[in-house]
Parts: sequence; structure tokens; C-alpha cells
Amino acid sequence: MSSGLLTEWGTASAPTTSTLQARFAVAGWGGALPERRVTNDELALRLDTSDAWISTRTGIRERRVGGPGESTGPLAVAAARDALVRARMLPNELDLVVVATTTPEQPMPSTAALVAAELGTPAGAFDLNAACAGFVYGMVVCGSLIETGIARKVLLVGADTLTRSVDPADRGTAVLFGDGAGAVVLVRDGTSEQDGGLLASDLVDDPEGAELLTITAGGSGRPTTVESLAAGEQHLRMDGPELFRRAVRAVSDSVTRTLAAAGCTPADVDLFVPHQANARIIDAVLARVGLAPEQAVQTVDRHGNTSAASVPLALSEIAETGRLRDGSLVLVTGFGAGLTVGTGLLRWRTSWDEQK
Ligand code: ACO
Repeated sequence: MSSGLLTEWGTASAPTTSTLQARFAVAGWGGALPERRVTNDELALRLDTSDAWISTRTGIRERRVGGPGESTGPLAVAAARDALVRARMLPNELDLVVVATTTPEQPMPSTAALVAAELGTPAGAFDLNAACAGFVYGMVVCGSLIETGIARKVLLVGADTLTRSVDPADRGTAVLFGDGAGAVVLVRDGTSEQDGGLLASDLVDDPEGAELLTITAGGSGRPTTVESLAAGEQHLRMDGPELFRRAVRAVSDSVTRTLAAAGCTPADVDLFVPHQANARIIDAVLARVGLAPEQAVQTVDRHGNTSAASVPLALSEIAETGRLRDGSLVLVTGFGAGLTVGTGLLRWRTSWDEQK
């Protein structure tokens, strides 16, 4: 077995930018947040930090932190039920349940299998781990399965509870994350050019960023032991400034490639829904790719970084408040540990023809 897994594969191949249109409608959307709000001032009571530092450096003012019974699985189920109600669909109509998460409910079975069991559906179920880019990766995977006819009605959830993985004493990470889940029900749509779905997508990973955001213990490489616990290796570790620099560059490039692949310009985009890690990252990407601040959706101030949940929570919010209309062009992008980046240009449609 290779001991130099990351280097022996050589340089990264070309990014996977696709112009394959994956046609689907978004029949329903939903979200779930834990009850408890934790403000920056509350964190400053136990950490050497301040509301001024956190809000200036990240744009975060508060986040939700899951209590007992508000772990990844129950949050995912709550978001899923919300989305199914909006889609006017029963769980047993689903073909597939996919949960994008990096903080599964438990190691086995998958969180998707637990969600499917709780909903009472015999649909296929699997988890997808692309860290904070997981929901966008999931949309590409589920959209492709719908386009090829393998699935017709898919529940896609992004759910994470990273507040349980941070070191509560590390002010560099403990202030950044929040918990939550967002969900969409994607269904097969029609055949004309104006149909909804992904017009183009781009999935990429920066292999040089693999060490920038890690949880090193608790997997098969380094199972949890008394020693690993004593060394705090169950906690998330992050090189924030380097991640910041690489994320801005990688996300901007991915967005630019996606728009070019779809033959669109930044001005064509109705709404830009990026992963909500840091308002300064979003601002820097906007400036680099030529999108206007009014095009961007920001929830990071109220949610913090909810990982794979941030994009579907933001989508649910704008769908609910009427900012999204049938035909809107929505640019979704996520980045996270890996360093994974995923972007999709989505034509939003909520109506679909049952016969198709
Ligand atoms: N409160 C007060 N001071 C702090 C805090 C805090 N919470 N955290 C760090 N500091 C201090 C540092 O110790 C440092 O002090 P020093 O100058 O005396 O050494 C100073 O503030 C500056 O620290 P930096 O880390 O350089 O601050 P920066 O402006 O880079 O902001 C941050 C840090 C917010 C983490 C930023 O780098 C960032 O957002 N990076 C990207 C993180 C990210 O996106 N992570 C998730 C991506 S993937 C996913 O979503 C799972």
C-alpha cells in the first residue's frame, strides 16, 4: 500500500466542468435549526474573543447549537419532513434519500438510512461526504440520476452539527460553526429548454488543501483511543488564513468556469447562493468574479457556518420569502474540507409534470 497517497497520484487532472443539463424541478424545500441561539457575546463569556472581533472578521453574529435530540439525524428528518410537506409528497413516493454530511448521526448505518427509516420509506439511501460542498455535490449526483432516469423523486438533505466536533476551548474554530439541516425534493421535469435543473456544474478538489481542515482521529486510520482523546484529535483543526486564501481563489475559478460552460455572464445570475463560511470570503468572491453584492444571499450572520446545511438552508429561506421565482437563474457553490469545491448553475422551477 502507498504511504504517500496525496503525492503519488501526481498533479490534479482538469476540473470536471459539465454542460450536461440535468433536468429537474424542486418540488419542495425545508429547513431545521436547533432551538438554542448562541450569540457572540455569550461565547465571549468563556473564550478570549469579542462580538467585535467575530462580527468584523466573519460576519457572524449568532449561531444555533444543537442540544439533546438535535443531532444530525433528527435535524435531517425535520428538514426532510418540511420539504416533503411543501412538495405534497408522501415519503413512500421517494426513490432515493441522500444525506450530505460530514458529521453523521453515527458511524453505521448511514444517516440517510436512519432518515429513510424514520420517514418509513423503502427508497434507496446513502450518505455523501464532500464536507461543506456536500449539498452542491449532492445536487449534481441526484440531478444526474434523475436525468438518466435512474431516479424520479429524490430527497436531498444537507445536515451537519459541527459544533460537536470543534474544540470548545479553541477560539479560532469554536466561534465559526453552527448546526442545522436543509432539504429539497427533486423530481423529474420535462424536456424543453426552459425546464428547470442544472445547466452546468463544476466539481473539483484542491489536493494541496487536504491538510487545512481535518479531524484526524475516529476513523479507520486512527481509531479513537484513550491517547487520541487525550491529544484532542477528535476535534476539528483548521488553518484558517490559508483556507481563506485558497477558498477565495478556488471558488472564484469554479464559478467562472461554470458560468462560461453555461454560456452565461455574472449579470445573468438572479441569485448567488454560496456556502456560508465567512462574509469576507463571499465578498472577496463577488469582487473577483464580477457579481454584485445585491445578487448574493447571506445567512452567515444568523446561522454561522452550518457546513453542508448552509446552501439548502439559504435556498429554503429565499424560496419561502418569494425571492426565487420559476425561471430564476441561481448560482450555488460550496467549498469545504478536502479542499472540495462544487458549483452549479440552476434554473429554479417548482412546478413539474407528473407524467414526465
Ligand atoms: N477572537 C479573537 N481573536 C482571535 C480569534 C477569536 N475568535 N480567533 C483568532 N484570533 C486572533 C489570532 O490569534 C490572531 O492573533 P495574533 O495576530 O495575535 O496572532 C488574530 O486574531 C488574527 O488571526 P487570523 O487567523 O489571521 O485571522 P483571520 O482574519 O484570518 O480570520 C478566520 C480567521 C475567521 C478563521 C478566517 O481565516 C477564515 O474565515 N478562514 C476560512 C475558514 C473557513 O472558511 N473554514 C471553513 C471552510 S470549510 C467548512 O465550511 C467546513
